Amino acid sequence: MNPHKINRDNFLNCMSYGVAIITSSTYKTRSNDTDYPYRADSNFWYLSGFEEDNSTLVFIKTKKKSRVILFVQKRDKTQELWNGERLGVKRAKKKFDVDKTYSIDKLQNKLAEYLKDSHRLYLDLYSQNSRLLEIKKVAKKSKVNRLTNIIPIVQKLRLIKSEHEITLIKRAIEITKKAHHSAMKKASSKLHEYQLQADIEHTFKSNGAYSDAYTSIVAGGNSANTLHYITNANKLCDGELVLIDAGCEYKMYASDITRTFPVNGKFSSAQSELYELVLHTQEEVIKAIKPNVTKVILQDLSVKLLTKGMIALGILKGDLEELIKKDKYKKYYPHGIGHWMGIDVHDPCPYKDKKNRDIVFKEGMVLTIEPALYVEKNDKKVPLKYRGIGIRIEDNILVTKKGYENLSESIVKSVEDVEQMCRAI
Ligand code: GLY
Ligand code: MN
Ligand code: MN
Repeated sequence: MNPHKINRDNFLNCMSYGVAIITSSTYKTRSNDTDYPYRADSNFWYLSGFEEDNSTLVFIKTKKKSRVILFVQKRDKTQELWNGERLGVKRAKKKFDVDKTYSIDKLQNKLAEYLKDSHRLYLDLYSQNSRLLEIKKVAKKSKVNRLTNIIPIVQKLRLIKSEHEITLIKRAIEITKKAHHSAMKKASSKLHEYQLQADIEHTFKSNGAYSDAYTSIVAGGNSANTLHYITNANKLCDGELVLIDAGCEYKMYASDITRTFPVNGKFSSAQSELYELVLHTQEEVIKAIKPNVTKVILQDLSVKLLTKGMIALGILKGDLEELIKKDKYKKYYPHGIGHWMGIDVHDPCPYKDKKNRDIVFKEGMVLTIEPALYVEKNDKKVPLKYRGIGIRIEDNILVTKKGYENLSESIVKSVEDVEQMCRAI
């Protein structure tokens, strides 16, 4: 069955009697009259599978039956000459296995009809999308007296990935693996960061991944201490590390991988001391993943291991429990251990349930594990040899029935394997 039809059926099961509406995203201007490449809204795409803009999906659920209606742009020779072929009303009906399709021009009138007998309406309540604002106006004139936010319902469904989704995530990671390995082989102090970025993104596209899942971070030396460094403008330096956080998007599914390696292919002893600590932490945290564990448990474990390691290296001084209690580690490890990943790199699925309890892991969830240590070059409190080093190691993990599968296990990360990859041609 069409995977999006399954998603729609699951959504209908969560819905009470009423009408639910979800709209496509709009083009975003890059400059003057040129746009960024169009990317479908993740929630809309999850339910529809439809990748054209200017479209809307409507669910109608009554006691007797449920219907799903897709509104799309009709065919238009002139528009298609400039912007590419549209599927159109007839072909969309065949392809997307919905009950009915209409031209988007009919949406307002049809909505007035659908909402005539409905008290409950599901919508994205917080979007400023102009179509949604119009829909809200129609709803105001109808019998609707109960508005429910559709977004958290879809985001919750997105928590558990289907086999089909996992296959696409695996493919994204496979392509990303080629990109990271190629960057390790090519890195040298002759290159700028943006040239490694170009190599990574060349690998993405030449392997069928149309886009990156987020702007690649290629951070040499101290720039690794800027968490979202995307300028990628500096020359790589002999004797420094380079942190690469880059992942492609394949058929709408993300990968999110970080590797940190020496520009000249050989870790210094100070670099490898910090690196081994981050790596050990990452491996221990990953080993702890199984159903019924929570992200908070993993976060606490990562804090404990990193803080203990930083005491041993002389970066932090004092009692382990005390340093943790007083958040002293946060200067060097200021972010979370990971996040959900799927159609969005930071998949916006819930971390808490309705009763505000932490979501427990279940088979089919996918998350990143990305511990790190960041030591600013001007941090006088830290032994000189560690200053200016930033290290993050990030993998993508699937929760399985009994434990986990590290989907990016084969992207090298031990000191020996990384050095060997850097030497390879
Ligand atoms: N690439 C962004 C992140 O690791 O969360
Ligand atoms: Mn991440
Ligand atoms: Mn990342």
